Amino acid sequence: MIFETHAHYDNEAFDADRDALLASLPANGIGSVVNAGASLDSTAASIRLAETYPFVYASAGVHPSESAELNEENFAQLREQCRHRKVVAVGEIGLDYYWDEPEPETQKIWFARQLELAREMQKPVIIHSRDAAKDTYDILAAHGAGEIGGVIHCFSYSPEMALEYVKLGFYIGVGGVVTFKNGKKLKDVVKAVPLERILLETDSPYLSPEPNRGKRNSSLNLPYIAQKIAQIKGVSPEEVVAVTHRNARQMYRL
Ligand code: NI
Repeated sequence: MIFETHAHYDNEAFDADRDALLASLPANGIGSVVNAGASLDSTAASIRLAETYPFVYASAGVHPSESAELNEENFAQLREQCRHRKVVAVGEIGLDYYWDEPEPETQKIWFARQLELAREMQKPVIIHSRDAAKDTYDILAAHGAGEIGGVIHCFSYSPEMALEYVKLGFYIGVGGVVTFKNGKKLKDVVKAVPLERILLETDSPYLSPEPNRGKRNSSLNLPYIAQKIAQIKGVSPEEVVAVTHRNARQMYRL
């Protein structure tokens, strides 16, 4: 069974058929799903999905682009959400310098606070990092994030950087981009990183792999990603599915 380590089924793109789609996943080989929180509201929605479906888990966290919503008062609310029995990680948290807002200082403050929250909760982190490789690495290293553990989700940096994160104790999240014609950098990352450090993810509804690029993504597309990784690694798709499943269970401590 495939372990989907990162999806957003609370997204409005699934409003028309969310329940039918989620209910169909196990019969289609998707054994577990982590629905990633990206704000206080989407964390609450992720927890509701996890309460509804036995094979769905949630993460609790505020995305860097949403981090201006945080204050001391609602941070306490986030801490409560983290205590839920089906919350398996703190995330997605990190830095995103692609967008101008919120300013980097705000992003850094709440990234660090949520890393400390993960340590307090003894849960791994799901890292979102875009155009911010060095700052992300430095903050993780400064907070001893190797002991916390987690994944650099939707990895977009160089193979060299990937190996630095692996050395720090992190997994590398690989999704649909690995199937893209212009996805050479991620293919090189997959070549460089041991399979024992790779996780399968879709980031649904975004980033659908070939041959469904441009359409709404769902976990049903994960076999295309596993096949591409298998081809790059020279192993069978079954092995990719089995090893990444074990990796995910280890990281999420399930
Ligand atoms: Ni995401």
